[in-house]
Amino acid sequence: MSDISALLYLVASVLFILALKGLSSPESARRGNAFGMAGMVIAIVTTLAMPAISNYALILFGIMIGGIIGAAIAKRIQMTAMPQLVAAFHSLVGMAAVLVAAAALWSPESYGIGSGGEIHTGSLIEMSIGAVIGAITFSGSIVAFAKLQGLMSGKPIRFSGQHMLNAAIAAGILFLLIVFCASESKIIFTLMVLLAFAIGVLLIVPIGGADMPVVVSMLNSYSGWAASGIGFTLGNPLLIITGALVGASGAILSYIMCKAMNRSIINVIFGGFGQAGAAAEASGGGEDRPVKSGSAEDAAFLLKNAGSVIIVPGYGMAVAQAQHAVREMAKVLEDEGINVRYAIHPVAGRMPGHMNVLLAEANVPYDSVVELEEINSDFGTTDVAFVIGANDVTNPAAKNNPASPIFGMPVLDVGAAKTVLFIKRGMAAGYAGIENELFYQDNTMMLFGDAKKMTEEIVKALKH
Ligand code: TAP
Repeated sequence: MSDISALLYLVASVLFILALKGLSSPESARRGNAFGMAGMVIAIVTTLAMPAISNYALILFGIMIGGIIGAAIAKRIQMTAMPQLVAAFHSLVGMAAVLVAAAALWSPESYGIGSGGEIHTGSLIEMSIGAVIGAITFSGSIVAFAKLQGLMSGKPIRFSGQHMLNAAIAAGILFLLIVFCASESKIIFTLMVLLAFAIGVLLIVPIGGADMPVVVSMLNSYSGWAASGIGFTLGNPLLIITGALVGASGAILSYIMCKAMNRSIINVIFGGFGQAGAAAEASGGGEDRPVKSGSAEDAAFLLKNAGSVIIVPGYGMAVAQAQHAVREMAKVLEDEGINVRYAIHPVAGRMPGHMNVLLAEANVPYDSVVELEEINSDFGTTDVAFVIGANDVTNPAAKNNPASPIFGMPVLDVGAAKTVLFIKRGMAAGYAGIENELFYQDNTMMLFGDAKKMTEEIVKALKH
């Protein structure tokens, strides 16, 4: 690699680091994205300008096919389907790692790592680790995609001896990896990859729906390490750095999510987590118990007479795209001198930062958006908790029902507010499929309807 390429790769790496730093806060996220895009342009142009690259027609053809498919998907995809799209993309990174490793094994000369039967040991180790992580990422991401897309049940699939089986497969992979590095056998390589595909499935199937956010971020981390592995096989330092950045940031995100959900990171990595609710049967909503329901006018009356309001957005707000109406409602209340804040649960919605993105889109000031641990103690002194399309993230079962699949997850203490308003279309359960006792509480009023329509009606009632 020429000095100029190395220098440009360094510039691209620094831009990627700045991109990650920018993405850590909503205020700087746009700038972070711009850094990332600039880094990627420099990385692609530098790579294409390298003397080893000769077949531009084939590369352009590949970019065109990928670009057209990617653009078509990006245009059609709903924000709420983002987690499964991300899982699908991770599976592609995993498969790419497997295919690059296989190509390098079958044609080592093209990669400059030796010749058939005499591949350098270092390269054999790199390619086998890259292929194993890639295969786990591929099959694990496919299962995560199927669960999130509803193609298979979100319920944990567990059987006796599961951990023993996983441990045996992991030991088998390690054994085959050592034999492969010593023998360079293509059959051993294939067996090793097949076992890695199997363990990828086995690691993700025991994880229940409510714990999927951590799985997606963990697979994000795996895909980064797989890409880093490809970087070693291809001898491309930028890919090694970028893969490591994705791997490390994904691991940090998984850790943060685990803390938010009160789960153990070790259990996540080894696939046995979410055990808290193992015995729990999801009891979906819709029970025939009386609830107090009200109209937009009732809600407007309560809101207008409040001194403080905390808005709790959830998945339903995203589905209904109600964020602009919510912002308008908050503005009307603020103009009346009412203190309005937004409480954000780390896994509200269907992807990390989902609610922050929607509220930023509606120009909600960042300083009125408060994280769970900062705002939770304030519900007790709040007049109205306005819950819009959120359910699991408010469910007290997480605190008082050890059999619940969400037991242990910190939740927003909305029930402590003087009045709780819940906007949702009916009595259906949330993502975790469990009943929410708050709906039946004396200080709760259900506002049945689409989140956007109901909020717009409340705004209308407030203005009159
Ligand atoms: P959920 O518990 O999923 O509840 C959303 C509620 O919104 C539902 O009960 C639904 O009730 C209501 N709803 C749906 N469409 C609506 C509409 N158009 N208008 C009004 N209401 C509507 O959401 P949450 O409280 O945000 O919790 C998130 C859940 O998703 C957690 O269990 C979390 O673990 C999981 N999860 C999170 C992520 C990430 S990273 N955030 C990723 C995957 C899974 P009705 O049908 O009765 O209207």
